[in-house]
Amino acid sequence: MVQIIRAKDFEDMSRKAANIIAAQVVLKPESVLGLATGSTPVGLYSRLIEMYKAGDVSFRNVHTVNLDEYEGLDARSDQSYVWFMHHNLFDSVDVKSENINLPNGAAADGEAECKRYEEVVRGFGYADLQLLGIGHNGHIGFNEPCGEFPQETHRVELTESTIRANSRFFADGEHVPTHAYTMGIGTIMNAKKVLLVASGKDKADIVYRSFFGPVTPQVPASILQFHPDVTVVADEAALALVK
Ligand code: PGA
Repeated sequence: MVQIIRAKDFEDMSRKAANIIAAQVVLKPESVLGLATGSTPVGLYSRLIEMYKAGDVSFRNVHTVNLDEYEGLDARSDQSYVWFMHHNLFDSVDVKSENINLPNGAAADGEAECKRYEEVVRGFGYADLQLLGIGHNGHIGFNEPCGEFPQETHRVELTESTIRANSRFFADGEHVPTHAYTMGIGTIMNAKKVLLVASGKDKADIVYRSFFGPVTPQVPASILQFHPDVTVVADEAALALVK
């Protein structure tokens, strides 16, 4: 079941989504939080830091599992997702470093790393709450449009449009990764709750197609229509086609 919460703008979306995550952690302090990168969650992570500093929420007993990581990058690279998470959330709250999990982009054997990571997430019984952004092509994590929904954590070749979208975070001439490790659609669908955030008019078309169009691996997020507990928090611009 998909519940759509309409926010005024990016700020409002960030506050509403942060409230949902904080409520999850307050109600179940040992929650397994599935986390996401990208520009959309940055505001909600800031709100969570504020709530933590105000004493309203603690991440002391939380475990985190991130969706994905670029192949070839590690925590020393400020383009890696592990760096992003430390910078935007982890270093400013009380989550324990040993409770933080991401695929290791620097692993020597990518296939083995994906297997290891799937086992980690499965070992937790999957995420209690999985946060997702959505790509312009409907990708969730780095599950790009394809012929069938990939089940488990796997290595992906990024599409041209994703590489182009991501290149805005890289300096001119800097190598933009072409491969990544990502939770599979099955890994994501096993989360007990899903919270998807979207902002901006450039997401309006894909939000509409994902939640009101046919379920197809050509629009990976459309599978969420089959998940029992999905909350979409999106701003007016991203919901422009949803009446
Ligand atoms: P964005 O990315 O939040 O930067 O738009 C979302 C995504 O690609 O999943």
